[in-house]
Amino acid sequence: RTLNLAIIPGDGIGPEVVAEAVKVLDAVASRQGFSIQKKHYALGAEHWLETGETLSDEVLNQLKDHDAILFGAVGADPRSSTIPSGLIEREILLKLRFAFDHFINLRPSRLFPGAVSPLSNPGDIDFVVVREGTEGPYAGNGGALRQGTEAEIATEVSVNTAYGVERLIRYAFELANSRARKKLTLIHKTNVLTNSGQLYTRIFDRVAAEYPEVSTDYCHIDAATIYLTTEPSRFDVIVTDNLFGDILTDQAGAVTGGIGLAACGNINASRQFPSMFEPVHGSAPDIAGQEKANPIASILASAMLLRHVGEEESAQIIEAAVEKDLKENATHERTTGDIGSSIVTLVENA
Ligand code: NAI
Ligand code: MG
Repeated sequence: RTLNLAIIPGDGIGPEVVAEAVKVLDAVASRQGFSIQKKHYALGAEHWLETGETLSDEVLNQLKDHDAILFGAVGADPRSSTIPSGLIEREILLKLRFAFDHFINLRPSRLFPGAVSPLSNPGDIDFVVVREGTEGPYAGNGGALRQGTEAEIATEVSVNTAYGVERLIRYAFELANSRARKKLTLIHKTNVLTNSGQLYTRIFDRVAAEYPEVSTDYCHIDAATIYLTTEPSRFDVIVTDNLFGDILTDQAGAVTGGIGLAACGNINASRQFPSMFEPVHGSAPDIAGQEKANPIASILASAMLLRHVGEEESAQIIEAAVEKDLKENATHERTTGDIGSSIVTLVENA
């Protein structure tokens, strides 16, 4: 079997962490007896500065013909950049997400042994957030009236379709059903956002009837942020809308020991278009080029990628290696700054 991968290293630490993930991918492929064909695409802030191009239709078309995309991070150094704010994110990341209908944004959160949570009593954290990827307040349905005046009106109207909510919720039930605990929590703000709240709740309850083995519960988004810090082990699979999911997954990254470990997938679950896997973090210009970037998030993204294309065993091999490395890392001299400070504390307290 040959896996046909598009690789978008991007800016800053993106190319550094992706290079490490590619080494890991090559190693697992040769061990498991499949081959990987890789095509690199230069996209990002630096590419825009050189060429004036963000993501052309031609490149978009080429990307479409791959089994999956491994993405690093894009974005310029805000301290020196002349790039209009948000241009790169909108015209590359969001464009890809909409063009390839990445309606699932999947973010696993695990407290790996050896990683250190800032919570004093984190317990056993192992949950997955299934965030909607193409609707909600991020759908681009809005505008500004009388901009720059005292009478300005700005809107981003949250768009929620029965079609979009149902495919999200079905994906989440399937995932919950495949995990040991089989628990699914809907997170929303149904008491205030009553229209979308009723749509979510109705579809959630209807699909739940098809999964009698999955236990379900519901939590308002504000309460969820409390539970995520006081009792994160209560969660197994979380399903939520685009905006709530964005915020919740950053918090999840923090409680599980940091941005250098968090990976995510932008998934077209109907498999019509390639899905894209990336670290949650950005291009980290403050540490770029200094060998300080932790590649684990990118390596875990490549494991998610392999799982998505059907190489479950390879994904597990990578995850086990990361786990082992983190465990041993607690006694290493050499580690990256994002987890290093915690590790120093660990060693000191040992
Ligand atoms: P960031 O995630 O790049 O950095 C935040 C902090 O975390 C920095 O102190 C950085 O040094 C540290 N950090 C991040 N990744 C790390 C790693 N692997 N190992 C060790 N430390 C790490 O977020 P920031 O600074 O807000 O954004 C920088 C640029 O990245 C901006 O241009 C932003 O727009 C872009 N960005 C791109 C994303 C993407 O491509 N998906 C996501 C988030 C931001
Ligand atoms: Mg975010």
